[in-house]
Parts: sequence; structure tokens; C-alpha cells
Amino acid sequence: MAILEILEYPDGFLNKPVLPVTDINGDLQQKIDDMSQTMYHAPGVGLAACQVGINQCVLVYDVSPRDDKRELHVLINPRIVCQEGEVLSENEGCLSVPDYRSDVVRFSQIQVEAVDRDGKPLCFDAEGYLAIVLQHEIDHLQGILFIDRISVLKRNLYKKRVKKRLRQS
Ligand code: NI
Repeated sequence: MAILEILEYPDGFLNKPVLPVTDINGDLQQKIDDMSQTMYHAPGVGLAACQVGINQCVLVYDVSPRDDKRELHVLINPRIVCQEGEVLSENEGCLSVPDYRSDVVRFSQIQVEAVDRDGKPLCFDAEGYLAIVLQHEIDHLQGILFIDRISVLKRNLYKKRVKKRLRQS
């Protein structure tokens, strides 16, 4: 297993949709292991393949409390098939958008379809924090960052800050 480099905004790879997985092979299993290790190392509660430069529709997540046993989940080709309600995701952040947090409006309940790493079809409902994490990660796979879901004014302030930082480095 390897810890992969996490791409950061404004890397162009982060705003392009990834390709669907068509073959769950050994190469993909290796990538999933690397993604998991990278997520735990960061540490983060979720990681989408495009965040580590992998152009495949895969995400990993683990929202279990920190001291508990790890509960790794892998979703291949996930999609939200039902969504309802509204919740304010407070202080949302992202490993690919360092040093920035913002409130984001999310759906409060979603239904997700995907397959697991063994190719078994999954369909489940999620609400609360898990629903927020899954919306965030599935957004990544479509080339959407949480800063794309905040006001233009806030987003421009953040972009200015990044530009300034990049000029100074
Ligand atoms: Ni993220």
C-alpha cells in the first residue's frame, strides 16, 4: 500500500468528471487500498479517486468515531438516486481545499446506488453526517468541489487568497 499525493485546488484534475469503472480488477483493488491508506493517513473521513489523480469512479469513506474500530466502505460508480430535505452542513472542509471551511446547503436524506469492491450491487439510504459526506464525495467524482456550492462572493474571496498564496510561493 502507498500513501498517494492529494491534489489541491486549483489543480485542473479536480474539476473534471471521472470515468465509470468497467472492470473491477487487481489494479483497481490496489488503487482502492492506496486510497484507503491515504484517507486514514490524512486523516479524512472520505476520499474520491480524482483527489489522488485516479480517473475512475471510486470513493472510500469511514465515518466511524475516531477511537472505534475502523469501518471502511468502498463505493464504485456511486450515484444518488433520490434526495430530499435540506440541511446546513456547518464548516464543511475538504482535503483538496486546505485551510478553508464554509457552510454548505446539502440534502438531508439521500438514497445511493453503487457496487462494492467485490462487484456486489448496493442500494441504501443515508441521512445526517453520512449523507453530507457522501454528497461531498460523489460531487468530487463529478468534478464539483464544495466551494462550487457556496456563494460567488465567498468563492471569489477564497480564489483570491489562493492566487495570492501561489504568487508568494
Ligand atoms: Ni473533498
